[in-house]
Amino acid sequence: MTAERSEVAIRPARADDAADIARIYNEGIEDRRATFQTQLQGAEDFAGRLEDTREYPYLVAESERAVAGWAGVKPYSDFPPYRPVAEAMLYVARDRRGRGIGTQLLTALAAEAERAGFTKLLGKIFTDNDASMALVQRCGFREVGVHHRHGRLDGRWKDVLLVELLIGDAAEGRGDG
Ligand SMILES: CC(C)(COP(=O)(O)OP(=O)(O)OC[C@H]1O[C@@H](n2cnc3c(N)ncnc32)[C@H](O)[C@@H]1OP(=O)(O)O)[C@@H](O)C(=O)NCCC(=O)NCCS
Repeated sequence: MTAERSEVAIRPARADDAADIARIYNEGIEDRRATFQTQLQGAEDFAGRLEDTREYPYLVAESERAVAGWAGVKPYSDFPPYRPVAEAMLYVARDRRGRGIGTQLLTALAAEAERAGFTKLLGKIFTDNDASMALVQRCGFREVGVHHRHGRLDGRWKDVLLVELLIGDAAEGRGDG
């Protein structure tokens, strides 16, 4: 499936990437394969999250000074035992998909999330999102199960596959007791 592999540089996102991140996210919204979100977003919707990405990493993939994709994590729960669990988000520009950029971003995000102290990445994937399902499989995520009729998008029920990747202490089996 992967066409020609794109050489990209992965770097932490900066505040001035917000417009590019929103533009690429909006392509994912319009495709109706990635998210229940239907409201198109603006740079201002990401600005706060990009001020300090050390705690909740955000990365961009860049080639020839253009942002081709981004990945980030968001909190799963405030409940203390769940704080080391993060939800992963990943969006590649429509005209740059299928060239290995998503794989590079998700691999880098897992490393960065581990550095930030997380022990698990969660992913929620519509079961008709073939590219995303292939990507998480390639990156070593485990399928937890399918939430049936987990929400409606444009009035139609969507099934959502929950996947997880153990990282840090959890991956190495440390931290018991
Ligand atoms: C999902 C997404 C991030 C994948 O990024 P990408 O750069 O296209 O992925 P890659 O090129 O690294 O390919 C990853 C795997 O998916 C496969 N793949 C890519 N596009 C595919 C498609 N349309 N159908 C089936 N498989 C596909 C590739 O062959 C590869 O599998 P392999 O390693 O076994 O060969 C990208 O398609 C995207 O941004 N989609 C819209 C937003 C979205 O769905 N985000 C995820 C929300 S859960």
